[in-house]
Amino acid sequence: MSFDYKVADLGLAEAGRHQIRLAEHEMPGLMSIREEFAESQPLKGAKIAGSLHMTVQTAVLIETLTALGAQVRWASCNIYSTQDEAAAAIVVGPNGTPQDPQGVPVFAWKGETLEEYWDCTHEILTWADTGDGIDGPNMILDDGGDATMLVHNGRTWEQAGQVPPTTEDDPEEFTVVKALVRRTLEQDPQKWAAVAERIKGVTEETTTGVHRLYQLAEAGELLFPAINVNDAVTKSKFDNKYGTRHSVLDGLNRATDVLVGGKVAVVAGYGDVGKGVSAALAGQGARVIVTEVDPICALQAAMDGYQVTTMDQAAAYGDIFVTTTGCFDVITADHMAAMKNKAIVSNIGHFDNEIDMAGLARTPGITKTEIKPQVHEWTFANGSSIIVLSEGRLMNLGNATGHPSFVMSNSFANQTIAQIELFAKAEEYVDEDGNPSVTTLPKHLDEKVARLHLDALGVELTELTKDQAEYLGVDVAGPYKPEHYRY
Ligand code: NAI
Repeated sequence: MSFDYKVADLGLAEAGRHQIRLAEHEMPGLMSIREEFAESQPLKGAKIAGSLHMTVQTAVLIETLTALGAQVRWASCNIYSTQDEAAAAIVVGPNGTPQDPQGVPVFAWKGETLEEYWDCTHEILTWADTGDGIDGPNMILDDGGDATMLVHNGRTWEQAGQVPPTTEDDPEEFTVVKALVRRTLEQDPQKWAAVAERIKGVTEETTTGVHRLYQLAEAGELLFPAINVNDAVTKSKFDNKYGTRHSVLDGLNRATDVLVGGKVAVVAGYGDVGKGVSAALAGQGARVIVTEVDPICALQAAMDGYQVTTMDQAAAYGDIFVTTTGCFDVITADHMAAMKNKAIVSNIGHFDNEIDMAGLARTPGITKTEIKPQVHEWTFANGSSIIVLSEGRLMNLGNATGHPSFVMSNSFANQTIAQIELFAKAEEYVDEDGNPSVTTLPKHLDEKVARLHLDALGVELTELTKDQAEYLGVDVAGPYKPEHYRY
């Protein structure tokens, strides 16, 4: 079998395969979904373009999708988050060799340039005809919305009958996307209409991507239906919270190995991720300060025992900074100039604009020294310096390997169920006017995902009696909570 792919080194496949094998043991949700649907093959005919951190856990997701009948092409959704051994193992496949790869086309390696990143995203949207007359994906599995936005951006330019100009004054990343759209439209003026038309729908992994989808739907510009995987309870209340509670320390430790106990840690944002990050740092004995814009989350932070103040106030006191907001310019160049010597500055939110890296680079007299990959010391003209992790991109995936398998089993079980659901019934996912909608998975599926993970932790669940269920007004088998319940 021959197919195109682009990864760092297929020689890493064996190491990747060992890690995948261990991860499978820690991902009971995905493995039981594989078993449940092995025969019925609900994803037969699905051609999934996946844009999600190419880690060991994602490898188990990819092989679950293919076990259910899907064809897949994969890219990472961040330039630093790929685990090269996982990417290699997926290309080689369980039965192939580095000389005769038999797995799945992956376009991802750790340390891509932005141009390479967008080329990889374009690769997953561009398939050769695989014998069924269809030369493109019919599903997207997205994390952060870059693949979805590329289709929408391309379609917008194409509909306007234009190719994007190559302007100098746009932010760097936007120019890269525009250059890519320009190139594709010059080659094929109908490219994006064809891509968009084939896509039945997208399942979106994270808060930031979901936010983009709702904006598109509100503007009436969403081209295909979407399932919001992030807001499954078994995703955002687990991955975003307990996942970051683990991986934020992993990122800090691998990057700097600084002792967290006793330090002042400043956490920007107290949503699901902020709660996990604050708990982790406090658990290590840090004195945690939270910044928030939402009075409810600010009050929660205060009642959880954290000091709540503004970044303007906290900048000069923190030893460790972590942004978790999904917003931009949360830590400005002025904040960084006011920080203590050797303060550690990092972001765990989806995009790199939470910390004003461009502003930092423009600071007069500043110099940048690489301590090691993804760890840089920025020294100000007065000799004081700060340590920035992963160039301001998400540090738990840039400096470490992201969330551990068990929590990702919850997230990815939701992803798989959402792909099955949307692939089978995309036409039902529309609003009252028949326009593509953004929807969360029904609660009984959320409860199913949780149920799949109980045995592995030795949890013994109490069962309602029929009378008790009647008294509470629920079914013995669930769902147990009304839609508005917040957990
Ligand atoms: P969320 O919406 O629950 O929390 C974000 C919080 O930040 C909100 O409470 C909001 O009020 C606050 N906030 C917004 N602007 C602010 C500002 N300027 N200053 C202070 N606080 C501000 O979102 P969630 O689920 O916690 O996700 C946050 C980010 O993390 C998103 O970009 C998401 O995509 C990403 N994410 C990253 C993961 C990782 O592994 N690195 C895992 C899950 C999510």
